[in-house]
Amino acid sequence: MGGWQEDGTQLKTTSIRPPGPPDSAPFRRHRMKYRLLLIFHLIDIISSGVIPNTTKKRFPDAIIVGVKKSGTRALLEFLRINPLIKAPGPEVHFFDKNFNKGLDWYREQMPETRIGEVTIEKSPAYFHSKMAPERIKSLNPNTKIIIVVRDPVTRAISDYTQSSSKKKRVGLMPSFETMAVGDCANWLRANCTTKTRGVNAGWGAIRIGVYHKHMKRWLDHFPIENIHIVDGEKLISNPANEISATERFLGLKPVAKPENFGVDPIKKFPCLKNDDGRLHCLGKTKGRHHPDVEPS
Ligand code: A3P
Repeated sequence: MGGWQEDGTQLKTTSIRPPGPPDSAPFRRHRMKYRLLLIFHLIDIISSGVIPNTTKKRFPDAIIVGVKKSGTRALLEFLRINPLIKAPGPEVHFFDKNFNKGLDWYREQMPETRIGEVTIEKSPAYFHSKMAPERIKSLNPNTKIIIVVRDPVTRAISDYTQSSSKKKRVGLMPSFETMAVGDCANWLRANCTTKTRGVNAGWGAIRIGVYHKHMKRWLDHFPIENIHIVDGEKLISNPANEISATERFLGLKPVAKPENFGVDPIKKFPCLKNDDGRLHCLGKTKGRHHPDVEPS
C-alpha cells in the first residue's frame, strides 16, 4: 500500500523486489546490493558524527590462545602496529583461572574500542586448558582463535628455562635431559611417575607441546576457518609476513611492513622499529639464553 501526498493523491508504490521468487539468484543479488548500500549508509552516518562512534569495552573478537613460549607476546606486540587492533596489556586468564569472576569482570579487562576496531586478548594457557575451548565457544562461537606454534622441543626448552629462572633454582633444578627422559620423580613427583616411550610426557614442558591432543579440542569446538596458526619460527625470521597474514585473518588491511622491524643486536630477535629508527624490543624475560641440551 502507498502513502498519501499533500494534494490528496495516493503515492504510487514501486516495488523494490526484483522479478522471480524470493530465493532466486536475481533476488539474492538485489538483497546483497541493498544490504551493502545500507552498510555504506551506516558508515556515512557514523563518520559524519550524527551517531557518535563512542568507545566502550567489548568482548574480544579474537584470542591468542597459545601456545605458551612460542612467541605469543611478540605476536601481540607486533600486531599493535595496526592502529585498529586493541588489546589489554596483561594476560587475562579468564577462561581458565578467572572464570568464576564472571563475564562483567572479563569485559572490564578489555580496552575501550570503537566500531571497526578489533579487540584481542592473549592468554597462552588456554591452549592446553580442557575447559577454555567450550567456554569461549559459549560466549561467542564466532571468536577468532589464533595459535602460535614452534618446534615443540625448542618450546619445551624455553618452558624449562622459564620455570628454572622463575623458581630461582638455576643450578638446583635437574638438567633438561633429566626432566625430559631421566628420573625427575624427586622434582615433580606428580608428573614423573610414568614414562611414555621413555619420555616424561606428563611433565608440563612436554605435555603442552603434544600439540595434536590440544588441537583436537579446539577443532571440536571451532571451524577450521576460525583458527589461524602462526609459525613461531617465521615470526622470528620474517615477522612482517606472519603479522600481515594475521591482520588479514582478523579481517583487516595489513599495515605491517618489513621496515617496521629491526633486529636486537644482542639477542638477535626482531624488535619494533620506531619512526626515528630506534628499536623497541621485548623485555628481559623474552629471548632468554637456553641451556645446551644433549641430543640423545
Ligand atoms: P625464550 O625467551 O625462551 O627464547 P611467549 O611470549 O609465548 O612466552 O614466548 C617467548 C618466546 O618467544 C621466547 O622464548 C623467544 O624464543 C620467542 N620470541 C619470538 N619472537 C621474539 C622476539 N621478537 N623477542 C623475544 N623473544 C621472541
